[in-house]
Amino acid sequence: MTFDARDFRDALSCFATGITVVTSMKSGEEPLGITVNSFSSVSLDPPLVLFSLGHTGNHCQEFRESGTFAINILSSEQKALCDRFASPQDDRFRGVPHKAGENGSPVFDDSLAVIECETWQTVEAGDHLIFICRVTHVTTQADKQALLFHKGSFPVL
Ligand SMILES: Cc1cc2nc3c(=O)[nH]c(=O)nc-3n(C[C@H](O)[C@H](O)[C@H](O)COP(=O)(O)O)c2cc1C
Repeated sequence: MTFDARDFRDALSCFATGITVVTSMKSGEEPLGITVNSFSSVSLDPPLVLFSLGHTGNHCQEFRESGTFAINILSSEQKALCDRFASPQDDRFRGVPHKAGENGSPVFDDSLAVIECETWQTVEAGDHLIFICRVTHVTTQADKQALLFHKGSFPVL
């Protein structure tokens, strides 16, 4: 290899993404959520999307067990949620307005779009687990702008 981990991260950060908070319910009663930018569309028919979670985080195993998710695509007004759901907190949902989506996963009021889905296949990929998910419900708020992530910062459109 002619590159180290820093070089690899720097190259990856040149790919601009949106930001999502992927949520679920643990045992049907405890809300779970994590900031994720590894989201991607996969297939239109059947409707499939994917995201990947690091094995060392708390959420990977819990998401594997729950199997149903709401992918909240964040709007430019939701930077605080990006920070909150990427940081260690006793209860990431405390004081955060949300409701249950169609599949019971937490949905934030002002999300740009919400993609509800369930695990279709998981793929082991190095230190991450890829969740390929079948979409069951979608909503969009077309009047909002996306929260963007590029080179470690959050450029405004
Ligand atoms: C912009 C951004 C994008 C992130 N994307 C991912 C991701 O795609 N997959 C992942 O596992 N962690 C991602 N993270 C890191 C997690 O949000 C963070 O490690 C989280 O605190 C892990 O929580 P847990 O240990 O409770 O699972 C991202 C963090 C940020 C700030």
